[in-house]
Amino acid sequence: MKWKWRQLILGLSCLLLVIACNGLSHTSTISPNSGLKALKVATDPTFVPFEMKNVNSNLEGFDIDLMNAIAKVTGLTVQWESLPFDGMISTLQAKTVDAAISGITITAERQKTISFTRPYFKAGLAIAVRESNQDIQDFNSLQGKKIGVQIGSTGADFAKTIPNAKISTYNSGPDFFQDLLNGNVDAVVSDAFATLYAIKNGNLKGIKVVANLLTEEFYGIATPQDSPYIESINKGIATLLSNGTYQQIYQKWFNTHPPALPEKF
Ligand code: ARG
Repeated sequence: MKWKWRQLILGLSCLLLVIACNGLSHTSTISPNSGLKALKVATDPTFVPFEMKNVNSNLEGFDIDLMNAIAKVTGLTVQWESLPFDGMISTLQAKTVDAAISGITITAERQKTISFTRPYFKAGLAIAVRESNQDIQDFNSLQGKKIGVQIGSTGADFAKTIPNAKISTYNSGPDFFQDLLNGNVDAVVSDAFATLYAIKNGNLKGIKVVANLLTEEFYGIATPQDSPYIESINKGIATLLSNGTYQQIYQKWFNTHPPALPEKF
């Protein structure tokens, strides 16, 4: 009888050992893309409807849905990190985060220091003025005017090309619109979709858009150069574009069909 018990216990211990070793060998062979590594993704949640904080302080928006969907199809886990837009590129360069999704326009200049995935959103700049303004209609009428822009944005780069413009820079979108309403600037040059969304949803009263899509821009997900993740993120975007998920997310936030996207910038 005693002998049988001993045999049973020995058998069970062996079984446990085998299970444990199996588990160990599994964890030790995990590759960066197999899903257990949490990808640190930066975003500046002051940019409706791409990234914002809802009443419960949770992140939501087009970019948030898209990144979470990419994570789902690629087996990555996302660990969100809120950062001011202005510091995002240097944070990527320092590799403190693995990626950033924040309505970031792909530009040749930025590509010198960071990498981008394929374009995931077709965007462009617009001019916003007070509703009562009659004299600013287009690029030429911005000459010599007081212009508000977000620090480090493509809108800020664009404003530099306007002859004699007096440029004021702001840390975030909501601030420059407030100054536009107060009359401290004559116009704001910023991303068209964000401005139009804020006007449409009643967050921005007394402001109108002139010269919608003044430029053609594409947003990309940014990563440090030589990122080991860029390939799987690109595959994820391609999957969402072909399986209808991208279209669903676009429809949810913009109530319309998405335009075609180029595969490369
Ligand atoms: N698309 C513009 C740029 O890349 C502005 C993006 C602002 N995004 C934000 N989350 N504040 O410069």
